[in-house]
Amino acid sequence: MRIEEPKILAALPGLSTDLRREVSLAGLTSLGIGGTTDLLRIQRHEAIPRLLKLLDEHGVSHKFLGGGSNLLVADGELPFIVLQLVKGDPEIALDGNSATVDAAADLGRTVTFCAKNNLGGMEGLIGVPGTVGGALRMNAGAYGIQIGSYVREVKVCRAAEHKIEILRGEQISFEYRHTSFAPDDMMLAVKLELPSKPYPEILQGIRICNEKRRSSQPLGQKSAGCIFKNPPGGSAGRMIDELGLKSFSHGDARVSDRHANFFVNAGQASAADMLALIANVRDRVQRAHGVTLENEVVVWNA
Ligand code: EPU
Repeated sequence: MRIEEPKILAALPGLSTDLRREVSLAGLTSLGIGGTTDLLRIQRHEAIPRLLKLLDEHGVSHKFLGGGSNLLVADGELPFIVLQLVKGDPEIALDGNSATVDAAADLGRTVTFCAKNNLGGMEGLIGVPGTVGGALRMNAGAYGIQIGSYVREVKVCRAAEHKIEILRGEQISFEYRHTSFAPDDMMLAVKLELPSKPYPEILQGIRICNEKRRSSQPLGQKSAGCIFKNPPGGSAGRMIDELGLKSFSHGDARVSDRHANFFVNAGQASAADMLALIANVRDRVQRAHGVTLENEVVVWNA
C-alpha cells in the first residue's frame, strides 16, 4: 500500500517519522518471506497517538512490526502499511533490580546487558530472536522461563483509542504464548524486575541454554521459530516428527529435519508455500491424533 494522502505526508517530519517506500517485508522477517508496502519508522513514542489518528482518519490500514521473528507475511503488494519503532536511546536503563527497556531493543542484547550488571532470570530467553516488545506481546518463553514473570510495568499505545497508557504487571495476564493485550496494542517500553545473581552464574545458565538450543533447533536457517503452539500436555514437534514429516515440503517451504515444529524457508519460499505446508501438516496431525494445532507464528494475510 502506498501512502498518497498529502496531509499525512506533510505531517510526518513533525511526528519524527520517516517514510520508506515499497519496502520488502521479506527483508524484515526471519523467514525471509513477505510482499511490499510503505514503512513508517517512528522515533518518538509521544508522536504515535497523533500518527495513528491521522492514519485512521484517512482510512490507511496499518500493522505494527517488531523484530519480524515470529511472523509470516503474505506475498505481493500488501493492503496495509507497516509501522516500526526506532530504538530509543538509551535502550535499557537500570535502577537497582529494575530494568526499563525500550520495546524496540533486541531481546538477546537485553538479556546479556542485564547479566553483565548481575541481573538474571532471563537466561532461557537468550537465543530467542526478536525485540523485547515482540517477546512481551506474546509472552515468549523457553527452558522453563517466560518474560511475563518479570514484568512490573508496560508502556503501551492503545491503537484503537490513540492513547498511551502505563499498565502495571498485575493488570496484564501472561499465559503460555498469550497475553491479555488487545491485538492492536503497541508495546512501547517495559519495566522488568529481575533477581540479583552474579554474572558468572548467569553466564553458565546462558551457555547451557545456548547449547540445548544449538543441539535441537535449526539455528542457521530462515525460520519463525516454532510454527505451532504445543497442545496441552503434548509436543507439536514430536507429533509431527512421529508422522515422518521431517523434510516434508511445499515448494521451498520445508519442515526442518532438525526440529519438526520449525518450518524453514529453504530458498525462495512464498507465503503461499508456507501456508500450504502449515495447513497440510495441521490436517495430518488432526487426522492422526485428533488434535488441531494452533499457530504460534503470527500470520499477516493480504
Ligand atoms: N521432539 C521430537 N522431534 C522433534 C522435535 C522435538 O521428538 O522434531 C521431542 C523432543 O525430543 C522432546 C519434545 O519433543 O522430547 C519437546 O521438544 P523440545 O524440547 O525441542 O521443546 P518444544 O516443546 O518443541 C518448546 C518451545 C520452544 C522452546 C523450547 C525450549 C513451543 C511451541 N516451543 O519447544 O519455543 O525454545 O521449548 O524451551 O512452546 C518458539 O516459541 O518459537 C520456540 C521455538
